[in-house]
Amino acid sequence: MIVVRPERQDDAGAIRDVECASFPTSAEADLVDRLRGAGHLTVSLVAGLDGEVVGHVAFSPVSVGSGSVGVGLAPVAVCRSHRRRGVGAQLIEAGLAACEALGFGWAVVLGDPAYYSRFGFRPASALGLSGEFGGGDAFQAIELTAGRLPMGGGLVSYTHEFASLRSSSG
Ligand SMILES: CC(C)(COP(=O)(O)OP(=O)(O)OC[C@H]1O[C@@H](n2cnc3c(N)ncnc32)[C@H](O)[C@@H]1OP(=O)(O)O)[C@@H](O)C(=O)NCCC(=O)NCCS
Repeated sequence: MIVVRPERQDDAGAIRDVECASFPTSAEADLVDRLRGAGHLTVSLVAGLDGEVVGHVAFSPVSVGSGSVGVGLAPVAVCRSHRRRGVGAQLIEAGLAACEALGFGWAVVLGDPAYYSRFGFRPASALGLSGEFGGGDAFQAIELTAGRLPMGGGLVSYTHEFASLRSSSG
């Protein structure tokens, strides 16, 4: 049975392995390590199966000029051998709930709308929000708490740990 839980100190290596195995390069794994080092892993959950880490999702702070702070979902990864069984969905749903519980009112992601729309994400442009990495309709937002989306929209900025990524896909 899959258990979704916050990362522990001794999970860092296993998380790195999942990220490296899920993306073409180590960029996402490196990003997670930078975020952790900077104290910017707002929410970091792993999916465990029989004591093994098979999935991971990270959320870190994002902000708009108005000062409103939300969270950005990036990255999310599930080992190939465990995909298409709802593990990614469990990680994302638990992660969004954890961010909401921490008081964050909104979240963004840069990723495939066909996947993320099922969690309630919609094109951020419809809410007046744009992302510093572009992405068109792939840049999506969700309101976690009613009335907490940034008033008037604006440009959403990620933390500086994202600077070396060409794109911050979810
Ligand atoms: C994106 C990713 C995290 C999704 O993980 P996942 O655990 O496979 O996600 P889910 O199981 O929740 O959903 C994936 C698909 O499985 C389907 N699915 C979910 N439960 C299922 C089940 N019990 N049986 C069969 N299919 C199922 C979902 O409907 C979905 O299908 P669709 O997207 O083709 O409509 C994973 O594919 C991954 O790590 N990709 C590489 C890294 C990456 O690209 N990250 C995201 C960047 S945007």
